[in-house]
Amino acid sequence: MQDGIGRKIEYLRVSVTDRCNLRCRYCMPREGIEQFAHADCLTLEEIYRIVSVMADMGLKKVRFTGGEPMVRKNLVKLVRDVAGLPQIETVAMTTNGVLFADQVKEFAEAGLNAVNISLDTLEADQFAQITGRDELEKVLQAVDCSLEQGLKVKINCVPVRELNGMTDEQAAGSYLKVAELARKYPVDVRFIELMPIGCGREFSRITGEETLAALEARYGRVTELQRRDSDAQGADVRSGPARYVKFAGFRGRIGFIDPLSHQFCAECNRLRLTVDGRLKLCLYYAGGVDLREMLRGGASDKELREEIEKVLLKKPREHHFLQEDNTGIQREGAENRECGEKLYDIPETRRMVQIGG
Ligand code: 5AD
Ligand code: SF4
Repeated sequence: MQDGIGRKIEYLRVSVTDRCNLRCRYCMPREGIEQFAHADCLTLEEIYRIVSVMADMGLKKVRFTGGEPMVRKNLVKLVRDVAGLPQIETVAMTTNGVLFADQVKEFAEAGLNAVNISLDTLEADQFAQITGRDELEKVLQAVDCSLEQGLKVKINCVPVRELNGMTDEQAAGSYLKVAELARKYPVDVRFIELMPIGCGREFSRITGEETLAALEARYGRVTELQRRDSDAQGADVRSGPARYVKFAGFRGRIGFIDPLSHQFCAECNRLRLTVDGRLKLCLYYAGGVDLREMLRGGASDKELREEIEKVLLKKPREHHFLQEDNTGIQREGAENRECGEKLYDIPETRRMVQIGG
C-alpha cells in the first residue's frame, strides 16, 4: 500500500473500544463521557474482515488499542485470528496494563508479539491522582508477566507539567523514575509528548528535550544514540517514530516520541481504524472512509480494497498541531495543501479514546 506521496503503509492501529477502566486526566473526563452505542461499533468479525482485506494489500503489522483494549470481550480470539493471517508479521497491543497480568499467557499463546504498557508515574498516590484508580501494582505485575511470557515490552510515559512535573522534585519522584524500568528490565521506556487532543488541550506538554536533559543530570551523558533499527531485546524492528538513547548500566533504551517538536510525518507508515469503523488517515485530520457503512451495505472484498486504495491517496502530508489554537481551530495558512477536498482539511475533534490512542 502506498499513499499519494509515496509513503509505504504497512501498519494499522485498530481501536477495539472507546471505553476505558481508567480516567487519565489528560485523556478522559471524569464524568459525562459520551460513548458509541454498541450497534455503532464494529464487531470483532467486521474488524477481522477489514484486516484480512488489508493484509492482502500489504499490511504487516497490527496494533490493538482503545480506549483500553482489555475491556473488549473475546479480544483474544481476534488476536488469534489476525496472528493467523500469513501476511501479518507483528501483532501488538497498547494497554494500560491493569487487566493484563492475568491474561498475558492467553494472549501470548494466541500470537500476540508485543505490548506497549502505559505508565506515567511510579509513585502510587500520584498514579491514583492521574488515573483515578489505585492500580499501580497491577500495572507493574503486567510488565513482569509480559516479560515472563516472552513478549516484547515497551513502556509509554506521557509526562504532563500540571500532573507530574510541576517541580524538579515532583518530576524526579514520578515520570523520571519510570526510566528506572529500563535499568531493571530489558524494556524500552519511551517518553511521549502530550498532544493537544481532547482533554490533552487543557494541559502542558513536557518536551523530550527537557526530559532528556533531566535524565542526563541523573544518569550521566547518554552512551549511545541509536538509530531506530533494533529494540531492547536486540531484534531488528522497522523504524518507528521514537528516537532512542542508552544510559550506562541500563538494559533497555530510553526513547522519545516528540510529534510536536520533532515531527515524523515524512516517515509515517500507519493508518487507524476507529471503533465505529472509520479508516482514518492521520491522527490529526478527521478524513478517512466509513468502512462500516460499506461492510454493512454488503460491499465485496474487491470493493473494499478499491475504496481503501483510493482514500489512501489522500493521506495528509503532515499534522498541524502547532498551527492551531487551543480549541482546535487552525490558524490561517495551516490547511493541508496535499488534498483540496473538504473533509480531509478538517482537524479531528474527537477524543483520543474515540480515535484510538
Ligand atoms: N497525547 C499523547 N498521548 C496521549 N495518550 C492519551 N492521550 C494523549 C495525548 N493527548 C496516550 C496514553 C497512552 C496511549 C494509549 O495514548 O498515555 O499511552
Ligand atoms: Fe502520520 Fe498524521 Fe501522525 Fe503525522 S500526525 S505522523 S501524518 S498519523
